[in-house]
Amino acid sequence: MSIRTLDDLLAEGVSGRRVLVRADLNVPLDKQTGAITDDGRIRAVLPTLGALVEAGAKVVVCSHLGRPKGAPDPQFSLGPVAGRLGELLGAPVHFATDTVGDSARSTVADLADGQVALLENLRFNAGETSKDEAERGAFADQLAAFGDAYVDDAFGAVHRKHASVFDVPARLPHVAGRLVLREVEVLSKLTGAPERPYVVVLGGSKVSDKLAVIEALLPTVDRLLIGGGMCFTFLKAQGLEVGTSLLEKDMVETCRNLLERSGGKIMLPVDVVVADAFAPDAAHDTVRVDGIPSHRLGLDVGPETVAGFSATLSQAKTIFWNGPMGVFEMPAFAAGTRGIAEAITKADAFSVVGGGDSAAAVRALGLDESSFGHISTGGGASLEYLEGKTLPGIAALEN
Ligand code: 3PG
Ligand code: MG
Repeated sequence: MSIRTLDDLLAEGVSGRRVLVRADLNVPLDKQTGAITDDGRIRAVLPTLGALVEAGAKVVVCSHLGRPKGAPDPQFSLGPVAGRLGELLGAPVHFATDTVGDSARSTVADLADGQVALLENLRFNAGETSKDEAERGAFADQLAAFGDAYVDDAFGAVHRKHASVFDVPARLPHVAGRLVLREVEVLSKLTGAPERPYVVVLGGSKVSDKLAVIEALLPTVDRLLIGGGMCFTFLKAQGLEVGTSLLEKDMVETCRNLLERSGGKIMLPVDVVVADAFAPDAAHDTVRVDGIPSHRLGLDVGPETVAGFSATLSQAKTIFWNGPMGVFEMPAFAAGTRGIAEAITKADAFSVVGGGDSAAAVRALGLDESSFGHISTGGGASLEYLEGKTLPGIAALEN
């Protein structure tokens, strides 16, 4: 890989230089209080930011948060993230209340060597995500004016062809940050020659989101274990009734086709936890997959499934896991995700957890992060990497 790294930039010397860092500080927020519920993505960029601070750079951090529609929207402000970042860095973070306007300009101009600024949400500007090259380019020009060099440490966003990810590196000397390097190093082990058996566990709600990765992985994996909301479309494809469970009707045929072509590599749940409603206190029972009542919906995989999946995982030498097995946010439906996560930690395997949701699940369930080989900060990004797609943010660093 012909990518320059943060160490190359540090070796040139950054003292007194303005370094624009694209981070992925898109952290989950509590819907009621707006509080940060998982700061994993903030902690993940500390090695890069700390090294730049130490070296005396003027560090200008930018990020998106959520999906605002190209205009300021207070519920997606990065203000709370600036506070948390400052706590973790042990030094105040100067927050600009706009991205490229007066506040940003004066905040950047006032930075002393070794200080850190955070710009307001990139997606408050239509240019960030625009499909129009000129509109994106104009916004990239404004952003690039805040840096003498650019560091991409936003692994979670490298699959987006956005101004801060794709167009800014074309305008400034650019390097990959520590997080991006580590992520690529780990994921390339999975696409290279993974030690076998190589077992992939996929969950989450939508089959349509995972279709491309299933197609790409089928030839390379030894086993593909499927749980989460998406398993019901596969169960339906096997001719089973799934009650009022999540179902993507237009995907049933595709799932049937995948099952036929999978050569027995795909393992589906044998039992599920069904409930009367999608609610934490809903009445629920465990049933066999051929006995899902017509008026109930599946919200987790059952204990026999956990046992079967765990037995397969215990043999694995390489594991990739993306997507929860059930609605782990509700304690009544968390046992499947917890069971699978524990089986992964117990396996004598190199394990990679991919994705915002599964990474958050690991921490929310109080599991020991260090018992996994690697916890990726990228959901979509890690899946697209495994699919073998060209990632715009990585391609931009290669040039
Ligand atoms: C993510 O959370 O997957 C990344 O931050 C990218 O966000 P996006 O899917 O809204 O582009
Ligand atoms: Mg995403």
